[in-house]
Amino acid sequence: MATNRTFTMLKPDAVRNGHIGAILDKITATGFRIVALKMTQLTTADAEAFYAVHNERPFFGELVAYMTSGPIVAAILEKDNAVDDFRKLIGATNPADAAEGTIRNLFATSISENAVHGSDSDDNAAIESAFHFAGREQF
Ligand code: RTP
Ligand code: MG
Repeated sequence: MATNRTFTMLKPDAVRNGHIGAILDKITATGFRIVALKMTQLTTADAEAFYAVHNERPFFGELVAYMTSGPIVAAILEKDNAVDDFRKLIGATNPADAAEGTIRNLFATSISENAVHGSDSDDNAAIESAFHFAGREQF
């Protein structure tokens, strides 16, 4: 059964470049309700676990180094059709291919430093949310 929550991280480049407020504003203006929110920094072990699905890919080392390079903002978002609608809002992985007005089109700098993460399925949204937030931190 489809659920209506997704998980996001504002990645280190977005935080470093001062885009936390603008990105959260775009997310809420699009109709998502923030049900969990925190600023934190991933350890190497955290990033390797979070992106374990990519551990055979050539960019894995670069991805882990980048994701641990500074603080991130983690959030759980609620809306009808949250996973798919959020992937539409963030745009393609490579900002050069991201549609006009999407978060990656507006705020990402490259395919590696692409401003924001969005869960790719309901199952992963639940796994990723539990990775970052205790039950009492989810509202
Ligand atoms: P995300 O999981 O972060 O929401 O990104 P995504 O689904 O759009 O892309 P995915 O294929 O899951 O890749 C995860 C992250 O790895 C970095 N990446 N770098 N240098 C490269 O070719 C490359 N490809 C992917 C990006 O940070 C991407 O978001
Ligand atoms: Mg992904």
